[in-house]
Amino acid sequence: MTVACAQGKIILCGEHAVVYGRPAIAVPVAEVQARATVEDGVEGQSIVIVARDLGRVVTLGDEASDETRDPLLAAAVNTLEYIGLGLGHDLVIVLESTIPVARGLGSGAAVSAAITRALAQHFSKDLTAEQVSRLVYDVEKLYHGTPSGVDNTVVAHQRAVYFVRGQRLEILRVGAPLLLLIADTGVESPTRAVVGAVRSAWQESKDRYETLFDEVGGTVVGIRDAMEKGDAAEVGRLMDENHRLLRAMEVSSSQLDALVNAAKRHGALGAKLSGAGRGGNMIALATPETCQEVKKALQDAGAQGVLQTEVKATTDVTGPLAPSMASPSQR
Ligand code: MEV
Repeated sequence: MTVACAQGKIILCGEHAVVYGRPAIAVPVAEVQARATVEDGVEGQSIVIVARDLGRVVTLGDEASDETRDPLLAAAVNTLEYIGLGLGHDLVIVLESTIPVARGLGSGAAVSAAITRALAQHFSKDLTAEQVSRLVYDVEKLYHGTPSGVDNTVVAHQRAVYFVRGQRLEILRVGAPLLLLIADTGVESPTRAVVGAVRSAWQESKDRYETLFDEVGGTVVGIRDAMEKGDAAEVGRLMDENHRLLRAMEVSSSQLDALVNAAKRHGALGAKLSGAGRGGNMIALATPETCQEVKKALQDAGAQGVLQTEVKATTDVTGPLAPSMASPSQR
């Protein structure tokens, strides 16, 4: 029996604009995790995935074609093929996850990463974080259509990342810890639908959206600099600015705005929606002094749950890593 886990993630800034080549920053959220357990099955059983929290059981061979393949099975199939094993194995993969689904916490990417890691370990194969990232990206395309690659990157590397599609991945240097509160509107918001809505709006008003994306990119660069310096007040100010731009892109909602405003009124240094928007989560940057008050304000304003996480200060980052999201032939 082999067990592997993957942490959730949250986007600190740059969502949506990152799909159009601008930078984004995302951080792991260790407080929520997906876990995959692989066991040898009985002969002739094929590959069976039991997703306990989703109440689903899927079996390889039951799908009509590769195109209709379930993303859970795709994660297993892609991994087995990538590590040079055929699909003739009898395996049971049990999934458990504490990551809320469709809330911008990377549940799909984390489940895929856990499956990939567990299968590689089960067959004693080593995969680098970048290889895990690319395998997860292929599955993300089934969930999200045109993902930027930021989710699989942060989930596979489990570090704070500064991400630009197609460029070398940069693990962020963080000068001082950041205390984040992640509040759930309780509204499910599938990323694919919101990314599609932004694409339609961009097609109709290209100049306006390109300007908004550029402005978002400016806030992300500013947040990276402020994080490196350990300047939490400046990070917060630019998070507020990023939220204003996301509202202009029409991806906020009355619930998200209510939570953002409540956090700000009660001492958050900054607050914004996170992920695709129109539901899902928002994040507030608190300090040890304001944390409890901001948390209570979020609960009073209707948050369905508030997670607390810390972006840890780094000391061990030396330089850029592998290019992010190369084509499959570059694997
Ligand atoms: C979703 O977590 C983030 C978006 O920017 C989409 C993406 O990057 O693929 C909205």
